[in-house]
Amino acid sequence: MQKRWLAMLVWFMSALVLAGNCFAGHGDKRPMKKAILIAAFGTSVSEAQQALDQVDVMVRKAFPGVDVRWAYTSKIIRKKLAQQGKIFDSPETALAKLMDDGYTHVAVLPLHTIPGREFHELSQNAHLFGQMADGFQSILVAYPLLSSHEDMTQVAKAMVQHIPKDRKADEAVVLMGHGTEHHPADAIYSAMNQVFQEVDRNVFVATVEGYPTLDDVLPKLREQKVKTVYLMPFMAVAGDHARNDMAGAEPDSWKSILEKNGYNVKVILKGTAEYPEVVDVWVKHLQSAYSHFE
Ligand code: CO
Repeated sequence: MQKRWLAMLVWFMSALVLAGNCFAGHGDKRPMKKAILIAAFGTSVSEAQQALDQVDVMVRKAFPGVDVRWAYTSKIIRKKLAQQGKIFDSPETALAKLMDDGYTHVAVLPLHTIPGREFHELSQNAHLFGQMADGFQSILVAYPLLSSHEDMTQVAKAMVQHIPKDRKADEAVVLMGHGTEHHPADAIYSAMNQVFQEVDRNVFVATVEGYPTLDDVLPKLREQKVKTVYLMPFMAVAGDHARNDMAGAEPDSWKSILEKNGYNVKVILKGTAEYPEVVDVWVKHLQSAYSHFE
């Protein structure tokens, strides 16, 4: 009799241990709850907000029923907006809130153009969020805009298509990219310059903080005997760089430098995120990250 009790007790204990292994531990049995986090540099220029609104609409349309949240990576921009009563989270705060709200799977869409320093920081921190005990079961960061030759061609064609129709073939277009001291990523601007010229030989890419610079493009404009130059931002948003460094009235703006060199300058203040065919490329990258959850 005592033996039978002992056998039952052992059976009961081992059943508990087994059950414990199945249902406790890493919370693997939580129902799947998926979210998208869009991470942008951010902008304090209210006209530039349009670009981000366009991305929001297109992402929600591509992922019906999925929760979409935003984060701004720039501390300065977040501070400026907070003074106007507009509160934006950093990606890290946004991820902590998603974790608190019980999300299990998160796909992050970085609205970066190239995989530079900001992209790597975001990826690194997102990865750490994926390692926390009882944290996300999966967190994936989508590729930035220019991540393959196919992306570059698609973006170049989309941008060229949106150059105003009254521009003549012998008029040049100079695109202002950001550029970076992260040299492997900065090389993408040189590649992109080449890809643009395969689509339209009078379209050039120059950068504010990397290579090529405007000085590298000036001799090429002279060579092509160009008289008119269109200036367009090659950044997600037509923010501070586009409005001041590119189109500003100061003598060191690209507009002023080109005018001093005798060119007739026309400015287009539209970020790349305002072109639906460009946003399609970001959405495609988000879809390929998100598809790992299915
Ligand atoms: Co900058």
